[in-house]
Amino acid sequence: MTMIAVQVLRRTQEAQDIAGFELGRPDGGPLPAFSAGSHIDVQVPGGPMRQYSLCNDAAEQHRYRIAVLREPKSRGGSAGMHDHVREGDTLLVSEPRNHFPLVHAKRTLLMAGGIGVTPLLCMAQRLATIGADFTLHYSTRSVERTAFREEILRSPFADRVRFHHDDGPPGQMLNVPADVGPPDADTHLYLCGPAGYIQHVLQVTQGMGWPPAQIHLEYFTAAPADTQADRAFQVRIASSGKVIDVPANESVTQALARNGVEILTSCEQGVCGTCITRVLEGECDHRDLYFTDEEKAKNDQFTPCCSRAKTPLLVLDL
Ligand code: FES
Repeated sequence: MTMIAVQVLRRTQEAQDIAGFELGRPDGGPLPAFSAGSHIDVQVPGGPMRQYSLCNDAAEQHRYRIAVLREPKSRGGSAGMHDHVREGDTLLVSEPRNHFPLVHAKRTLLMAGGIGVTPLLCMAQRLATIGADFTLHYSTRSVERTAFREEILRSPFADRVRFHHDDGPPGQMLNVPADVGPPDADTHLYLCGPAGYIQHVLQVTQGMGWPPAQIHLEYFTAAPADTQADRAFQVRIASSGKVIDVPANESVTQALARNGVEILTSCEQGVCGTCITRVLEGECDHRDLYFTDEEKAKNDQFTPCCSRAKTPLLVLDL
């Protein structure tokens, strides 16, 4: 992965526990282009690699804007960004990649939960620019935790945004059946937020008959996995024939790294797809949120940062 050195041009407090970072080239030159829904990998100083969605207008070439929620159980990513990254600092970031692109539709519904607003804000700007019909439903715990609220209220698309706050009066709460409406072949839905939010919206919309092909989603974080029933298994490296034990309390990537086989990871929770590895034999126990059910059923690739094996051995195309 090619990394680019960028400077923190501006750091802002976007909401309670949410810091914004504006990144640009030190010489002011243009950055690689991106499209709505893209993210970049950020090497957190002294910490892990983390992915953050770009939330600025994709027409801008001079900056990338990201927003980072301080996670109470941060493993160094969000806490590192909040505690150690200041204006003027240099960060290493990847070129933008897009696993969450907008498709052409007559009408678009953007459904954001908390910090999941970031890629959807970028989409809202794009849809507003091209004069498309869209509505952004933005749910947060409270006004104080609503990043970009003032900016959205001042934007040309303010009248297309509905705010929903958990601590607000009942009438403004997100009501998925009413706010999304019955299935409509001309409308596409985009969901981004924590796993609980996405699962709720998915459950209700699919129960109403919305076809999966019209629902696009990006998880912000995975729900905590239940690892109590995890068992040990083995993986074989196809190129060398080497067999490596994966104990119950280790991920495949950890077991491989212990044996000198490094696989690039980023989110380490099955959300980003960075670690995808081809599987030649054995049955995967998919634990990720990245692949669709159809892709999982093919059993030809998995995310070794979190997924495991249903058979005693997996042969990996490494
Ligand atoms: Fe993100 Fe494995 S590192 S899915």
